[in-house]
Amino acid sequence: MNQVELIKAPITEELKQFEALFATAFNVSNDLLASVLTHLQQRKGKQIRPILVLLSAKLCGEINQNSLYVAAAFEMLHTASLIHDDVIDNTFERRRQPSVNALFNNKTAVLVGDYLLTTSMDFIARTENLKLTKCLVELGKGITVGELLQLQNAYKKTTETDYYAIIRKKTAILFALSMQGGAISTGGTDAQQKALRTFGENLGICFQIKDDIFDYTPNADIGKPIFNDIREGKKTLPLIYALNQASETERKTVTEIINSGDLNDTNIILLHELVSRYKGIQYAEKKMEEFHQKAHSTLNDFADNDVKKALLATLDYVLVRES
Ligand code: IPE
Ligand code: IPE
Ligand code: MG
Ligand code: MG
Repeated sequence: MNQVELIKAPITEELKQFEALFATAFNVSNDLLASVLTHLQQRKGKQIRPILVLLSAKLCGEINQNSLYVAAAFEMLHTASLIHDDVIDNTFERRRQPSVNALFNNKTAVLVGDYLLTTSMDFIARTENLKLTKCLVELGKGITVGELLQLQNAYKKTTETDYYAIIRKKTAILFALSMQGGAISTGGTDAQQKALRTFGENLGICFQIKDDIFDYTPNADIGKPIFNDIREGKKTLPLIYALNQASETERKTVTEIINSGDLNDTNIILLHELVSRYKGIQYAEKKMEEFHQKAHSTLNDFADNDVKKALLATLDYVLVRES
């Protein structure tokens, strides 16, 4: 069994049920909305968040209708956040096809993102469970604050501490709450919820570090543009580390390039060389390993079974994935 098969094996049937439920949201009457949703349906993502919801639910009990609602709600909120993120980041490719802002326009992307966000609320409302509803609220607020923090830090000096604060909010929170939401849906104890949430948070940090490494990987085949973070003035871990190691003159040159906003190919190559010279990618990989270790140890108290194995395989997959 390969890694992805191992991850999905304990929840094969439930993933199908999730997909069917998720698809019900794409049945709409407005023709513009319908054409955007048809475009979105052509390429689904890796579905790592619903997989985590369902595995976490199964580790604490029997997967039920509420587990499926949580999985659908969170994947929907994720989809909405990507549509908005591509407007914010000025990105024109997503999941190997044009982003919504590229194929339609920014206004359409904002509105369709809003529609999907509301659809996510619809899924969670159907659980009639206040704790699960509060998870979605915490999520929506957290991601938005994370994106705002990132915006405030753009084109500014960003420390490694700032970086972790940003990615905890904009990315890791969704993984943390996917784990907690899954556990709540099947009656997980407070201790189980806490452990699973911590697992998700650390896995989520690994996930974003890997995503930020991809952005500095010229031959990456990830279905979205590379070198985009720096084009938008975002300093991520590989560059933050390289800048800390660099000479005063190099730091000054890089700051000037970023502040000028002139990220032409020559300047991009220069930045990439600096990251390579000071081993920024290797440092980011080392940090990712540390968060991987933290996540791994939070599952110690759970009995070994195929669901726990699948969760640990998901954690490993985050580090070795190719897109
Ligand atoms: C992209 O998430 C956004 C980040 C947090 C980096 P994914 O890489 O999970 O996106 P899809 O859903 O698989 O397209
Ligand atoms: C994650 O950050 C985006 C969200 C939290 C919505 P990125 O901006 O790095 O994600 P990609 O690279 O566009 O998928
Ligand atoms: Mg982006
Ligand atoms: Mg990215």
